[in-house]
Amino acid sequence: MEAYQPGFQPKDGGYLKLNTNENPYPPAPGAVTAVREAGVDSIRLYPDPQSVRLREVIGEVYGVPVERIIAGNGSDELLAMALRCFAGEGDRVAFPAPSYSLFGVLARIQGAKPEEYELDADFGLPEEFFSARAAIKLVASPNSPTGTVYSIEIIQRLLEETEGVVLVDEAYVDFAEESCLPLLLDFPNLIVTRTCSKSYSLAGLRVGYGFASEEIITGLMKVKDSYNLNAVSAAAAAAALADRDYAREITSRIVIERERLAESLAGLGFKISPSGANFLLCRPPGGRAEDLYRKLFDRKILVRWFDTPRLREFIRISIGTPEEMDILTEAVREILE
Ligand SMILES: Cc1ncc(COP(=O)(O)O)c(C=O)c1O
Repeated sequence: MEAYQPGFQPKDGGYLKLNTNENPYPPAPGAVTAVREAGVDSIRLYPDPQSVRLREVIGEVYGVPVERIIAGNGSDELLAMALRCFAGEGDRVAFPAPSYSLFGVLARIQGAKPEEYELDADFGLPEEFFSARAAIKLVASPNSPTGTVYSIEIIQRLLEETEGVVLVDEAYVDFAEESCLPLLLDFPNLIVTRTCSKSYSLAGLRVGYGFASEEIITGLMKVKDSYNLNAVSAAAAAAALADRDYAREITSRIVIERERLAESLAGLGFKISPSGANFLLCRPPGGRAEDLYRKLFDRKILVRWFDTPRLREFIRISIGTPEEMDILTEAVREILE
């Protein structure tokens, strides 16, 4: 099998890093304090295997009972747990394409059959995906790398037409206007995963969390590593999640910047896909995606280019600070001239 290909992570400094959708702002001050003040015991001792304190904070923030919440070592771990639970040898695992390329890798690890459903021209979900029969369906909303948001009505229809489990990966949802979380009340086959990597600036600490019925959470707990989330990360994530004002502030700055960048790039002749995430998928003029990616790389500006038939014409740009976006736009302008 082929391994998942993460975006380039440079070992040395000096890069403008717009390739893996990290947050350009520091984490909430309370999260940094939690890391600085982590005592020797949180290093010496095993962490709480159930991450109860963190789950309680998540429960308060989202108004969901603790029994319906699970925490993980990044939301990637939650995806792995879900497939461990629901995708047996030979089972079908359905997901749209292009989407998060880890989905197929995780299905193959289980010996399950990944089944890709090609998104339509506007990156909408194809009809056949709704009626597909699968042990589990995975859908990222907002989707990566397209940025497309699938409305709560669309996800509801998917749940109504699916017998198996539906996992909605909401890694980027804080940059969008709509979550499918309210559907948890009506659909016991729904899992929603979230992450602290994007909107909470904690990618390096690896914290994700998920919501589902109590029955599913009990199952996920059975297949996770015993001490899956370390104590320092759990404490920092609890502080970050609790600081609602800070989270709102940095998220709205990124959304404003996303719209500003979309406008500047459109002015340079780019075609922009509507995005509810902290990145833009865009098609540079003149079929110059690869060329632009390489020339930006030479200037130590990292964006993502996917060498696949459907995406070859696009680049994906993570949203940074206004200053970073000005540097990027200027570099793009110079290269295209
Ligand atoms: C759609 C999607 N889901 C999940 C993740 C992983 O998030 P985490 O850092 O929580 O593992 C990413 C990361 O880029 C992503 O794009």
